[in-house]
Amino acid sequence: MHRLRLRRGSGLRIATLALLAGIAAGCGGAQEGGAGGAGRVAVMLPPGERPFWMPLARDFERAHPGVTVDLIEGPQSTDLRENLYTASLLARDPSFDLVYMDVTWTSKFAAAGWLRPLEGAFPPQERDRWLPAAREAGMFRGRLYRVPVRTDVGLLYYRRDWLEGAGYAPPSTFDELVRVARALEDPPRRWGFVWQGKQYEGLVCDYLEVLTGFGGTWVDPATLEVGLDRPQAAAALEFLVRCRSVDPISPPGVATYQEEESRRLFQDGRAVFLRNWPYVWRLAQREDSPIRGKIGAMSMVHAPGGRSAGTLGGWGLGVSAYSRRPDLAVAFIRHVTTLESQRVLCGETGYAPALIEAYRDSALLAANPFLDRIGRLHANAVARPGIARYALASDILQRHLSAALAGGEPAARALREAARETRLMLGRAGAAEAR
Ligand code: GLC
Repeated sequence: MHRLRLRRGSGLRIATLALLAGIAAGCGGAQEGGAGGAGRVAVMLPPGERPFWMPLARDFERAHPGVTVDLIEGPQSTDLRENLYTASLLARDPSFDLVYMDVTWTSKFAAAGWLRPLEGAFPPQERDRWLPAAREAGMFRGRLYRVPVRTDVGLLYYRRDWLEGAGYAPPSTFDELVRVARALEDPPRRWGFVWQGKQYEGLVCDYLEVLTGFGGTWVDPATLEVGLDRPQAAAALEFLVRCRSVDPISPPGVATYQEEESRRLFQDGRAVFLRNWPYVWRLAQREDSPIRGKIGAMSMVHAPGGRSAGTLGGWGLGVSAYSRRPDLAVAFIRHVTTLESQRVLCGETGYAPALIEAYRDSALLAANPFLDRIGRLHANAVARPGIARYALASDILQRHLSAALAGGEPAARALREAARETRLMLGRAGAAEAR
């Protein structure tokens, strides 16, 4: 029933399965070698996050003698890690006790029966300590399956120094953004606007906030109504196409960029505007950063009369239905979601914490004064639809957005086709798919 979702043909499928086999083999070894045999918990993380989780894992091991925490480094791409977890869970493989999940995975993984419900372990008074949007992203059909560790919200960064120097206020509409970017850019040395245009989940995030700014919608999770063939949806895609090829404020390569490619260009002082997540702020303020003290951040601009939005992102932990040590897995979640652990994880990285009280914490605010602003910009968060078939809906949208960006399909036609395919897919799934 649930097929392994791989996007780039059989070569990737083989590579993914080989990586999974390697991970499983590595996990087995760790299990046998676990000192004292009191147990082991394993979780796969993005490679960049692993160093920041290490102190949390070591603290947990100290508090639980004989227990080993395996922090397994997965691939960089969100989509590939989802594929790996999916393949493992489909095979009822106990290698991962914990699933480190994007906001969009909860429904699919919970609907498939791959996760243990957690509301017994985290009663309402504990859940009230989490940001409402992050908490909601862990719920499926009234039950809790994912505890938020960190949250994300899409932001528009800009070169405050350049805008001020040229007498521009930060733009508030899409047209103003293009106008200011054109005035300040000097391509290819300096581009106007960089973002995530590659065919992957990040492109959907970028599109969703532009779509919201034009007053459009994607899929209503309650009714499964699809809004992609409405004029607002076409206008939003036309804006991205315009940035890349009509009023080219974005480099042609933007269609291959993920978060880091776009951040590097901005951080090297080669872009006026950047769409990205909160982690960028902390890196931009490092001692050796050429843009230190020179940037501002706000939510994405909007159409006249529209509203600014930032796509809700974020990561949290669920417990695999196939874990042999769910008790330890829950204990580890508790450990990494305390205020002290949020200080460790978010202070250093600039990630936005999931705990409400963390936004008032003086230690965290001292490490990252931008936190205060992120907390306020979080109010503009717009969620991707929490439907069990989210991955398929995202695949369809990614494909058609990408075709339009590459110039292969006019925006309105691409989205009409995306709407048709989405309706067909959801129609088959039935209304029961809605959360
Ligand atoms: C960030 C967000 C996540 C999103 C991903 C897209 O990691 O937290 O929600 O899906 O970027 O690349």
